[in-house]
Formats: sequence, structure tokens, C-alpha cells
Amino acid sequence: MKRAEMGRGTVNKWDQKEFKQELCRCTEKMETIIQAYLPKEEGFQRTVLEAMNYSVLAGGKRLRPMLLLESCRLFGGDERLAEPFMAAIEMIHTYSLVHDDLPAMDNDEFRRGKQTTHIRYGHAMGILAGDALLNYAFETMTEAVEIAKHLPVEEYYTTLERILQAQRILARKSGIYGMVGGQTVDVEATEKQERLTQEKLDFIYRLKTGALIEGAMMAGAVLAGASPDELVKMEGIASKVGLAFQIQDDILDVTSTVEVLGKPVFSDERNQKTTYVTYRGVDECRRLVEEISGEALKELSALDGHQNEFLRQLLIWLISREK
Ligand code: IPE
Ligand code: IPE
Ligand code: MG
Ligand code: MG
Ligand code: MG
Repeated sequence: MKRAEMGRGTVNKWDQKEFKQELCRCTEKMETIIQAYLPKEEGFQRTVLEAMNYSVLAGGKRLRPMLLLESCRLFGGDERLAEPFMAAIEMIHTYSLVHDDLPAMDNDEFRRGKQTTHIRYGHAMGILAGDALLNYAFETMTEAVEIAKHLPVEEYYTTLERILQAQRILARKSGIYGMVGGQTVDVEATEKQERLTQEKLDFIYRLKTGALIEGAMMAGAVLAGASPDELVKMEGIASKVGLAFQIQDDILDVTSTVEVLGKPVFSDERNQKTTYVTYRGVDECRRLVEEISGEALKELSALDGHQNEFLRQLLIWLISREK
């Protein structure tokens, strides 16, 4: 069944094969949108532009732009308005990976099946490419204003307000109260070889990984005009998705291969990092991923009057993802 035939609000279920096909189509769509917003490689600063594009175009699941778009669709929003935000959140996510791989952090040499940016372009250019991606992400978000200019005047101001709100959400979720905050506590605890409490471990996961996923789902929803109450619900759902996602990432670090993952395995062990896996073991972690994702799915289906079957299946797929 084609997605267009599903319509919003229908409860038809896709089978696995149909979902995988739709996931492929959706990933390709993400690639096209992301590419359209990347900068041209020209001028004296060309090297940093090449490094930016190299890291973004290396691939990846494109999960955050997908969640942003599907959350926008969930509330019946205008997809065109979401596009600059989809490209922007992938830039922010990629910058977080480029910096996460630096020798001063996780010191990894492989990412998305290629050499990490600092290995390919040198450490200084790795740092600068990350800085540039973060900055360019916020410049890219403002492109939504150009799209809004074509709307009827009575929709223009409401749309501008939504654009600003989405930008504010992404700024907060990627910064000190989000991803950067989580990475800070993660790096510090690893350096000090701290025995983490469950509370602190959850804080790290909620911020370093959960926050950007919350940002994706909340920004998509807000662009579509979701109410404050609905936004709180989306944040709660995304927070659970993010926690399950990072636990699965920790599982894959010890169970997968570099060929499948496209990044090194046993990176956490090499860095003597405390993770859910070191505390609970792989089997218990698998159970937790299922349980936490199950709660997120229940909350998603309880959203009054809003359904998105692809989003639902995407969250189910994440439970058993292999990369
Ligand atoms: C990796 O994120 C970093 C984590 C937050 C675990 P992804 O697993 O989404 O990486 P890509 O984008 O697919 O490369
Ligand atoms: C990093 O977590 C999350 C980020 C904010 C980049 P990890 O360090 O476990 O991510 P990977 O395994 O390198 O992708
Ligand atoms: Mg890390
Ligand atoms: Mg890492
Ligand atoms: Mg990891």
C-alpha cells in the first residue's frame, strides 16, 4: 500500500516488506533534501566546506530528519516548511559526531563506513568543520522564512512564530541543556573513571542522545502547529525513544561488526566507558530497549486524533536495528 493511500488517521498496518520499502524511499528523500541545503565547495575556505560535506554525505540512517518530518506529518503540517529544519538537524547531529570522534573525546577513526573527518582532513579542520556545521545549521533554519513568504498573509505571522519556536527548541536541545550538556558529563565521568549512579547515567543518556531526538520530534510538531500540551507529550515520547536508542547503540558496540556498523566496535570498552551494558549486561539491555520503546509506542498511540503509521513502524524498527 502506498503511503498516499494510507491517509492520516487510518489504522491499516503495513507488512515488514512494505515498511522496509517505504523506509528506503524515505531515506532517499532525506538524502535529496539534505544535499540541497549543503554549501558549495568554493572560495579560499574551500577545505572546511569540503570537510563539512564529506562528513554529512558519508551516509547515516538520517533518523533525526525523518523523525522531524514524520512528527510534522503526524500533526498535519506543511512538509516544505520542515525541509530546512530536516537538513539543519542532520548538520547538528553530524557535527556532534565529528567532535565526538576527535582524539580528545572518543578517539575513533572510522564513521559511517569512512575515515572520520579529523583523520581525513586533520584535527584542526575536524574541529572547524564541526563548528561550521553547527553555525550553518542555524543559518539553514532561517530558509524556512523564505518559504513562509509565499503563504497567504493570514498564515504568515503564525508560521513565523512556529519557525522561531522550532529554532529555539533545536538551540536548546543541542546546547548546554541538551547534547553538549550530556557529552560534558559523559566525557568528564570517563576521564575520572567515575562509578556512575543510575541517576547520572540516565542524565547522560537523556541529554547526549535523547535531547536531539526530542528536538527533532518537537520541532516537527511545533511547525505543524501542535499545542503546548501535545508538545509536552511529544517530548516525553521522544525522550524514551532516545534512551532506548542509546542503549541499543551500546549493545551494538559490543555485539556488531565494524562492517555492519560503519564505526568501530568496542569503542566504549577501549575508552573504559560506563554504559548501560557494563551495568546491566546485553540481555537485560535488550529487554530494556523493548520495554522503553513499548512505553513510547503506547504514548504515541494515545495522542488524541493523530496517527502516523510510518512513524509507529519506524519506532518498532529501531528496537531491532542492526546499525
Ligand atoms: C550515533 O547516531 C550517535 C548516537 C547518538 C548513538 P546514529 O546511530 O543515528 O548515527 P548515524 O547518523 O546513523 O550515522
Ligand atoms: C555519542 O554517543 C552521542 C553524541 C552526542 C555524539 P557515542 O559516543 O556512544 O556515539 P557513537 O557510538 O560514537 O556513535
Ligand atoms: Mg561519545
Ligand atoms: Mg563515540
Ligand atoms: Mg556508541
